[in-house]
Amino acid sequence: MKELQGKVCLVTGGARGIGRAIALAMAESGADIAFNYQQSRERAEEICRLIEGKGVRCRTFAANVTSEEEVNRMVQETSDSLGPISILVNNAGITRDRTFMKMTRQMWDEVLEVNLDGPFNVTHAVLPCMINLGWGRIINISSFVGLTGNFGQTNYAVTKGGINSFTMALAREVARKGITVNAVAPGFISTDMTKDVPASVLDQVRAMTPMGRLGNPEEVADAVTFLASPRASYITGQVLSVNGGIYM
Ligand code: NAI
Repeated sequence: MKELQGKVCLVTGGARGIGRAIALAMAESGADIAFNYQQSRERAEEICRLIEGKGVRCRTFAANVTSEEEVNRMVQETSDSLGPISILVNNAGITRDRTFMKMTRQMWDEVLEVNLDGPFNVTHAVLPCMINLGWGRIINISSFVGLTGNFGQTNYAVTKGGINSFTMALAREVARKGITVNAVAPGFISTDMTKDVPASVLDQVRAMTPMGRLGNPEEVADAVTFLASPRASYITGQVLSVNGGIYM
């Protein structure tokens, strides 16, 4: 029997990048999968077929994590069709980079809304299912930037630092209900988020990273599925870095 068989896992932003790799890895471990997409329904359906090819069930939803209404509908429909959600991966996130003096209020608000209000909305909607089950895993995708800060990313750093604190505070609240809450903090990973970073900056990143390369989404997904697994049963409130050594 696979390790996550019988579990239902919701991955936000599962249609591409790190979220896609997490959805596929969770399915590989036997979990039924629900994920939201924002842009391409075709791409989401294609990933769904890949997931179903692993012998598990999959549902996709066009949903924005900043909308409480859309999130509640997604969570309700997932529970109705797949069963109660017991694994939540808060992965959806955005950047709006600019040095602080040039950063507009809108850039600040957009990043906080997706990266902080998003996890609030989704976690709030999912937690009652986990409490009823007496078992749950919440894994928040943070970033090394939440630990170190980064030039041009005051807004993003605030959200990732916030997610680390959220992880620790919520872990304390729900530990006795059988629910663990952890974060995974990736370093630079090759996805759409980093594809527009200038080549010279990526060269600097490689130079600063002891392993001398960017990570790939599957390397993050492996850490996330581990935290969801029974092997991580005594781990809670932690921020696990998956960063090639760029911050240690
Ligand atoms: P990506 O840009 O490829 O994917 C982001 C996903 O979030 C997309 O599926 C998108 O549809 C979804 N999303 C964005 N706004 C949303 C909203 N309002 N509602 C619902 N879904 C929304 O980026 P990537 O690299 O896969 O990032 C995933 C997570 O990993 C993010 O939280 C990011 O901050 C984090 N991360 C990424 C790193 C990297 O180097 N790529 C490094 C550290 C952390």
